Amino acid sequence: MSILVTGGAGFIGANFVLDWLAQHDERVINLDKLTYAGNRQNLAGLADDPRYIFIRGDIGDRDVVDSLLKIYQPRCVVHFAAESHVDRSILNPGEFIQTNVVGTFNLLDSVRLYLDCADSAVRTGFRFIHVSTDEVYGTLDAGAPAFRETDNYLPNSPYSASKAASDLLVRAYCHTYGLPAITTHCSNNYGPYHFPEKLIPLVIHQALAGNPLPVYGDGRQIRDWLYVKDHCAAIRCVLASGRVGETYNIGGWNEHSNIDVITKICFLLDTLRPRADGKPYAGQIRFIKDRPGHDRRYAIDATKIEAEVGWRPAETFETGIRKTVQWYLDHQDWVGNVVNGAYTRWVEKQYL
Ligand code: NAD
Ligand code: TYD
Repeated sequence: MSILVTGGAGFIGANFVLDWLAQHDERVINLDKLTYAGNRQNLAGLADDPRYIFIRGDIGDRDVVDSLLKIYQPRCVVHFAAESHVDRSILNPGEFIQTNVVGTFNLLDSVRLYLDCADSAVRTGFRFIHVSTDEVYGTLDAGAPAFRETDNYLPNSPYSASKAASDLLVRAYCHTYGLPAITTHCSNNYGPYHFPEKLIPLVIHQALAGNPLPVYGDGRQIRDWLYVKDHCAAIRCVLASGRVGETYNIGGWNEHSNIDVITKICFLLDTLRPRADGKPYAGQIRFIKDRPGHDRRYAIDATKIEAEVGWRPAETFETGIRKTVQWYLDHQDWVGNVVNGAYTRWVEKQYL
């Protein structure tokens, strides 16, 4: 048997593929376009592994997806591929509509026809796991209850709107065609292989480079932080025992303001890799203009997945952030390879 993973060369997808093959012998087919966010180095250790097949391709390319399904006959799709960065969606929303909406439609429609022609055993066991985000629910006021699966969709950025649109297509394919889909809504992931455009890896990288640490607005926005390996475990659990047609929120029970996260990273670096001049990294913090339409707070109520599927995160923010900072210190060669010319141009455009 095989599983088809989309976007498996990105941050969460790569962690998922590595964790999967550490625990299963089932073959993984990884379909990834290798955008700026995709990096085959994340999976370099699997280069000679017969259980791993990499296909460079676009989820929006119907011929590629149709032929992959036909050749490998996967028993499930775990769909990570997306444009995922809110700031980029504000500058260039078109790519987000193309990949997140049109690409997901293409994948769903291809899977629909694949299942139409498959034998009944394949059809019965098949799952389409759609990896979405908590951002589709919009923003929360301080003190408001955390997002539940029954909350309305109120997306505020082109990114979250494109994910919300893809979720609704998944829902419609499940309802109309009986496509056996499950949608997950996770909070902000962090951990190894995170591209340094997102808050946590950006701060670690810029701190070590001696650069300013950019805080949008007042830095009091709140996110729930989920260690990526906990997220991977949650997806494996949902794949194994989640109910078709359901949605599951996945969170770390870890709400922190951005300024607290940045300060925590600075303290950790002060201990683990002190600055040459002995001064604290927090001195590099700079408050800059806010993100347009910036969501104030996200928080996940993850009681449903715990009650139905039996998953709970293993890491606290304390343990997860320490592991993450240490991983970046130990993998400066990985960081050096991803912060190429295109990355530098992005940082200049966004922050200077
Ligand atoms: P990422 O940006 O690190 O990786 C995305 C991957 O998808 C890359 O490898 C990229 O090359 C690939 N890709 C992009 N467009 C493609 C296309 N058209 N065809 C095939 N491959 C394509 O993203 P991530 O952080 O790993 O996020 C994975 C999923 O999880 C996304 O769907 C995202 O919306 C969701 N999510 C992420 C977070 C987070 O904190 N990172 C939080 C909530 C939800
Ligand atoms: P990010 O990692 O981009 O994830 P998301 O926008 O999907 O939550 O940002 C996390 C939070 O950190 C968000 O409130 C925006 C803020 N932020 C900064 O203050 N400075 C930065 O340079 C970045 C990238 C994000």
